[in-house]
Amino acid sequence: MYKHILRPLLFRLDPELAHELTLDWLVRAGRLSPVLALLNKIYARQAPDMPVELMGIKFPGPVGLAAGLDKGASCINALSCFGFGHLELGTVTPLAQPGNPKPRMFRVPEHQAIINRMGFNSGGIHPFLENVASTRKTLPLGINLGKNAVTPIEQAAGDYITGLKQLYLYADYFTINISSPNTKNLRDLQSEDALDALLSDIMKTRQQLAAEFQRKVPVAVKIAPDIENDNIPALAELLMKHKLDAVIATNTTIDHSSVEGCEFADEAGGLSGKPLRGRANEVVGLLYRELQGTVPIIGVGGISSAEDAWQRLLAGAEMVQIYSSFIYNGPAIVAEIINGLALRVAESGSESLQLAVQSARKEYK
Ligand SMILES: Cc1cc2nc3c(=O)[nH]c(=O)nc-3n(C[C@H](O)[C@H](O)[C@H](O)COP(=O)(O)O)c2cc1C
Repeated sequence: MYKHILRPLLFRLDPELAHELTLDWLVRAGRLSPVLALLNKIYARQAPDMPVELMGIKFPGPVGLAAGLDKGASCINALSCFGFGHLELGTVTPLAQPGNPKPRMFRVPEHQAIINRMGFNSGGIHPFLENVASTRKTLPLGINLGKNAVTPIEQAAGDYITGLKQLYLYADYFTINISSPNTKNLRDLQSEDALDALLSDIMKTRQQLAAEFQRKVPVAVKIAPDIENDNIPALAELLMKHKLDAVIATNTTIDHSSVEGCEFADEAGGLSGKPLRGRANEVVGLLYRELQGTVPIIGVGGISSAEDAWQRLLAGAEMVQIYSSFIYNGPAIVAEIINGLALRVAESGSESLQLAVQSARKEYK
């Protein structure tokens, strides 16, 4: 239904308007139990259970929703019915901010890609908190934290710490987003010294909060695909030094060469979707070589099939997230990926996805 009816209608509209209308519909659907039951039946129950455990969390499935779709945590109920194993909400900034001027989201349909320069449009922490606090959650929820545009980059840690403190009770895990290309200088936080200082402040705060609330909420860092290969060992070193609970690889890329010649290819912003698949896979592989399982990797970028997801797991990811393929294929893509993974687990004769991946990785070596 999505591909043949809804998508053609939505794709006639400006991408951000289509996005807003869809979110609005999801908010309304989330208030109606019969609609939620129907969505569950059509989507979530089309895939087998495939639990994955990492960061000390039992995820019911290996495919999560990547950050950026539900920035304000307003659609948790409906999004929970599509078969995702977790939802990553946000990016949320401490204070409300409008983001960049519109237009700032562009489709590149020839490549099933999106270019966006949203710039952390956010309602701020307060409405976000009210939304998560008032939802009866059925899935693990990640909260992706960002910094306000007005906060000088040298004071970025303060914004992330505000997010951690105010939302600590509501997150199953946090993501520190230092990789959006659309907030000035944000990616500078990935440089060695800046990251060392930032992670030190963040993990110290997490330790204090864990003692105060008697619960350790895992913290992940989300990185860009545009990091130089030569810098990956130092990055991995820092993730291990500060005992990060996970790394999410990757965010969108500023390299638009793969969509050259297409309409909107020259728009500034981060490119996501199919053209990102190769580089995101490579970054996961390089990270895994350094980390060797000490810090689990969540793979994201260009995954639009079970084969893509399987390859990302073989490269070193423990589970995956999707965004653009959800826009291009609709909610059925989630069960499609999980069913394809289930086939590979069955073929390998393993008892779980994680065991199937482990034995396939050994064969690969
Ligand atoms: C319109 C749009 C908005 C996004 N906003 C965020 C965001 O707020 N925070 C974030 O960490 N990633 C954001 N992302 C990046 C995605 O979470 C994901 O890392 C990226 O799109 C690659 O995955 P994909 O190829 O499956 O889309 C956004 C992506 C898109 C397309």
